[in-house]
Amino acid sequence: MNNLITQLFQIKYPIIQGGMVWCSGWKLASAVSNAGGLGLIGSGSMTPGLLETHILKCKEATNKPFGVNIPLLYPHAEAHIEILLKHKVPIVFTSAGNPALYTKKLKENGCKVVHVIANSKFALKAVEAGVDALVAEGFEAGGHNGKEETSSFCLIPQIARISQLPIIAAGGMYDGRSWLAAEALGASGIQIGTRFAACIESSAHTNYKEAIIKALEGETQLTLKQLTPVRMFKNELYFQLDAMISKGASSEELRSFMGRGRSKKGVFEGDLAQGELEMGAVSSLINKKESAQEIISELVKTYIEARKKLIENNFLS
Ligand SMILES: Cc1cc2nc3c(=O)[nH]c(=O)nc-3n(C[C@H](O)[C@H](O)[C@H](O)COP(=O)(O)O)c2cc1C
Repeated sequence: MNNLITQLFQIKYPIIQGGMVWCSGWKLASAVSNAGGLGLIGSGSMTPGLLETHILKCKEATNKPFGVNIPLLYPHAEAHIEILLKHKVPIVFTSAGNPALYTKKLKENGCKVVHVIANSKFALKAVEAGVDALVAEGFEAGGHNGKEETSSFCLIPQIARISQLPIIAAGGMYDGRSWLAAEALGASGIQIGTRFAACIESSAHTNYKEAIIKALEGETQLTLKQLTPVRMFKNELYFQLDAMISKGASSEELRSFMGRGRSKKGVFEGDLAQGELEMGAVSSLINKKESAQEIISELVKTYIEARKKLIENNFLS
């Protein structure tokens, strides 16, 4: 396959594994890169020292391109940038913060920079900051997200309308059919989170992976819009939050109730009741444990099949 995204990153397929706290260490990132996609180490749950270890292990495990995701609001962002420059990681996906902060510096050091956005306002900021591509993340996506609740199907064409940069579609991407639909809307690649979070090489807890596999339609929800909006599984913690929000709890009360380390508790330690189980609406489609290689192979197979079907029905030529 040859398009703007495969060219930008020098990869075989325009399939990105989203950087994910507590899930995407060197094992997952290298497995995705070895399978022809682009693996991203999720630095948001790492100390600078741990990130350095993961970068070195990833380099040993693959000779294909891989990158690092840096959520800019996290305390170690600046130190993480220094580590990835030291080790000459050539691809950086920034998220959750101001893209103007480090883009210039990263680009001056030869990095390709991509920023994750959930609305037009941030897309324009990222374009202005000089990024190479945008991840347009609809609110179906697992994890932190935009409070506007713009779905991927509305967001992708919205961003294609205001920017010429290559777009990577995220949120609800499951197989080759969603990939093809995203392309029709203006994307050149896809970013998948939840399906990779549940896969064998993900460092998440088995309980969390099984919760994704078992989740049904309607069992995830965007919540905590007052603080940092997040899509999570509707577990005991979610319903406690929901009750507080209904009673008009302040941001301060919600912050103090959540405390620290809720996503570690849920995703990494497997506490299904009191942990924050970040997962996307796509969970209802995920029903088996698979390897990163199996996911990529199935994506490519179903993409080719979906395209063929449209051509046979005279919708495409
Ligand atoms: C458990 C989990 C943790 C995540 N952590 C991050 C993160 O640290 N940084 C980030 O930019 N996005 C994060 N995301 C979002 C993913 O990178 C990806 O964009 C999103 O999951 C795509 O939507 P999907 O879940 O429908 O596939 C996370 C998602 C999940 C499910």
